[in-house]
Amino acid sequence: MSTDLDAQPAAAAGTFALGGVLPVHRLGFGAMHLTGPGIWGPPKDPDEAVRVLRRVVELGVNFIDTADSYGPFVSEHMIRAALHPYPEHLVIATKAGMTRPGPGIFRPVGRPEYLRQQAELSLRHLEVDRIDLYQLHRIDPRVPLVDQVGELVLLQQEGKIRHIGLSQVTVEQLRRAREIATIVSVQNLYNLADRSDEDVLDYAERENIAFIPWYPIATGELAGPESPLAAMSAHRGATPAQLALAWLLRRSPVMLPIPGTSSVAHAEENVAAARVTLTDSEFEELAALA
Ligand SMILES: NC(=O)c1ccc[n+]([C@@H]2O[C@H](COP(=O)([O-])OP(=O)(O)OC[C@H]3O[C@@H](n4cnc5c(N)ncnc54)[C@H](OP(=O)(O)O)[C@@H]3O)[C@@H](O)[C@H]2O)c1
Repeated sequence: MSTDLDAQPAAAAGTFALGGVLPVHRLGFGAMHLTGPGIWGPPKDPDEAVRVLRRVVELGVNFIDTADSYGPFVSEHMIRAALHPYPEHLVIATKAGMTRPGPGIFRPVGRPEYLRQQAELSLRHLEVDRIDLYQLHRIDPRVPLVDQVGELVLLQQEGKIRHIGLSQVTVEQLRRAREIATIVSVQNLYNLADRSDEDVLDYAERENIAFIPWYPIATGELAGPESPLAAMSAHRGATPAQLALAWLLRRSPVMLPIPGTSSVAHAEENVAAARVTLTDSEFEELAALA
């Protein structure tokens, strides 16, 4: 991977090797917002969505997170339209296990035959032979965990997915899933202002599992002029969004934030956070502020 930090600032975040074998820069991109309102249908500006994807890759991002349910399938289509044939080191993580029957509505469905169908569709929509990281979007409480994670193991054995990840889980659920499969990542809500899943993060760090914090800048709440980080931003020469992301990167070596945006300007701002290094006291001050 390139180490030219001027050309590829995302590399300044350092790398994390998923499953110990698949290195990615620790600042990724979340492709959920490349869809319409309510994560439903096409984006308002599809050309800008394509530009965002190409720009983040140009800036050294080589980990993109998406899901079958974003659109549904709109986000995966945008990724294929913008980036296929994919650059060699690009890792695309997708998910299944959450249906989207309408704008703003999500429902978990973890029946094994459904997960298999969605994996087959994601392979086709992304136009890949194998999905690098396949995440169970939510554990469906109506289906035994062994059936849900077990189906992902079968897909892995068949060569359709490479690595398995989980999303929005407790430590206990993560432990139980690890009795069934090798879990390389966990994607939970986590940001400076909401650190309720510290225990999951600490467990992931101990076990060298990637922790992918979704909502990393609290959907912009930590980014604007009203942000509690605005004052520090003014004298630090970094935007509030950059401070929020830099704090996450500093919090743990297994942290892999995936800020999402539909604008090239915000994408550039967010990736540049990889070059913001916080001192110990700035790290503590930010933690106390938010
Ligand atoms: N596993 C799960 O259950 C789950 C749930 C939600 C999300 N995710 C994943 O996590 C990714 C990130 O989460 P998220 O999108 O919810 O939260 P986020 O990245 O914290 O926030 C994205 C929002 O913030 C705005 N934004 C981004 N950069 C900004 C900046 N520099 N200044 C001001 N506003 C900015 C964006 O609007 P603009 O488009 O206007 O920039 C967008 O509305 C998603 O893309 C998705 O891949 C996973």
